[in-house]
Amino acid sequence: MTSPLFDISLEQPEDRAETEMLAAQAFGPGRFTRTAFRLREGRDAELHLSFVARKGAVMVGSVKLTRIKVGEKPGLLLGPLVVAPNTKNQGVGQALLNRAVEAARQEQEAFILLVGDHSYYARAGFEQVPSGTLILPGPADPARILVCYLEEDARKTHMGAVTRW
Ligand SMILES: CC(C)(COP(=O)(O)OP(=O)(O)OC[C@H]1O[C@@H](n2cnc3c(N)ncnc32)[C@H](O)[C@@H]1OP(=O)(O)O)[C@@H](O)C(=O)NCCC(=O)NCCS
Repeated sequence: MTSPLFDISLEQPEDRAETEMLAAQAFGPGRFTRTAFRLREGRDAELHLSFVARKGAVMVGSVKLTRIKVGEKPGLLLGPLVVAPNTKNQGVGQALLNRAVEAARQEQEAFILLVGDHSYYARAGFEQVPSGTLILPGPADPARILVCYLEEDARKTHMGAVTRW
C-alpha cells in the first residue's frame, strides 16, 4: 500500500534489526517476559505475512505474524504491532494491521490470535475470545485475548492450549 505519508511492504530478512529496534523502543526489556513473546520465542515470523511501513528510507512501523496452534488447529499469532513514537496517530498501525489480516486471509489461514486492546483491534475485525477457552503459556488479561476468525470453522474448534508450531 502506498499513501502520501508512508509505504507498506513485505518485511525482508535484512529488516529484522530495525523491526527489533522499534519493538525495543515501544516495549523495553519487559517485552521478553510477555506471554506473546514466549509463544514467538525460537520461531521466526512468517515473512510473507509480515509487513513494514516506511517514510522514505526510515522504518516507522512493523507487524509480524508467527505460526501457532490452538489445540490441534494451526493459525497465526499477531505481534508485535509497533509504530515509531513520532509517527503515531497517522494511520500506520491500522494500515499495517489491515494489510497483515488481508494477507493471512488470502493465504487461507484459519485465525489470527493476539494479546492487545480490544478497542484498537476491533476496527480490524478482532473480537474477545470467550473467557476460559484458551490456555496460554503465561499470564494474560482475558479481556485482551483477541481473535480474528478467517475461516468460520475455526470458531467451533477454537479452544485448548496455545502453543508454538
Ligand atoms: C498501538 C499502536 C500500534 C497504534 O498505532 P498508530 O499508528 O498510532 O495507530 P493508528 O494511527 O492506526 O490509529 C490511531 C487511533 O487508534 C487509537 N489508539 C491508539 N492506541 C490505542 C490503544 N492502545 N487502544 C485503543 N485505541 C488506541 C488512537 O486513539 C486513534 O484513535 P482515533 O482514530 O479515534 O483518533 C502504536 O501506538 C504503538 O506502537 N504503541 C506501542 C506498542 C503497542 O502498544 N503495540 C500494540 C500492542 S497490543
